[in-house]
Amino acid sequence: MLELPQKTVIGSAHSKLILVGEHAVVYGEPAIALPFPEIEVKATVDQVDGPIQINSSFYYGLLSDMPDKLEGLAICIKKTCKELDQDATGFRIQIESSIPIGRGLGSSAAIAIAIVRSLYAYYEHDLSRNDLMKLVDIAETYAHGSPSGIDMAAASSEVPIWFEKDKEIEHVYINKPFHLVVADTGRIGDTHAAVASIKEQYKVDFTETKLSIAHLGKLTTQARTALHDGDHSLLGMLLNRAQDELSKLGVSDEGIDRLTKVARKSGALGAKLTGGGRGGCIIALAKSIKHAKEIADDLLHAGADQTWYFTVGE
Ligand code: MEV
Repeated sequence: MLELPQKTVIGSAHSKLILVGEHAVVYGEPAIALPFPEIEVKATVDQVDGPIQINSSFYYGLLSDMPDKLEGLAICIKKTCKELDQDATGFRIQIESSIPIGRGLGSSAAIAIAIVRSLYAYYEHDLSRNDLMKLVDIAETYAHGSPSGIDMAAASSEVPIWFEKDKEIEHVYINKPFHLVVADTGRIGDTHAAVASIKEQYKVDFTETKLSIAHLGKLTTQARTALHDGDHSLLGMLLNRAQDELSKLGVSDEGIDRLTKVARKSGALGAKLTGGGRGGCIIALAKSIKHAKEIADDLLHAGADQTWYFTVGE
């Protein structure tokens, strides 16, 4: 019997980093985010008989049996089929990801982006950025509560972005390439809880919380100027100040504080948490790529779970 060739299609998405402005971005302040292409998600779709199957390290089984905590992703997949005018049946999605989950690196957004892209490719439909954002937002709202949208915007962008809620995304001009280290505390952060805790603080101390959020917005604006001018010393100082403000807001923790101190002791121009905080990752600004490697080594010796270093803006 003649076997028809199996159709297999791949969609992918990379990780993201927030340089500065996380949390404040939820309240309408700007934030700067970067694509982090070193780690990524690949979603492979192929044909199977019967109901949709999901094959990944975090879930293996039928879409219809997905646990509650993955409900957003399940709804996103069904909604994507509906948008494509296809029955939600007859395919398998295999997900391979090198992005550690829950570390503020945008894994949930990247997984949803890769899946939506792979399904559109499988059914040979063009995918507009608007449609992609609309579908991924379904999964992100379940994962993060009330996301600003910055994670999915950065995980689907090839260039550094200036992000303000409900505004057009702008590209950030980088005059002089800079060198970043990312270090994973090894502990899963809970962005949902961290965002909720700041919301709670607004109720307890409105004035102080508003001042902190506004200060983070101001630091982000100054960071854009520093990037524009290629002033890395100023950028480092601004990152340190942002970390102080995020600590004041209660979204840093002992593990993050320890790694930021190690990075600064190794000569980093600045270091702060990235993403939701309370676990997750830190970023540190190095003076050169060689220096970035030295900082990364020191962070590993100090107990970081994993590190990466790379140049932005080349
Ligand atoms: C999470 O990567 C960034 C936060 O600002 C939440 C959000 O903007 O949705 C903490």
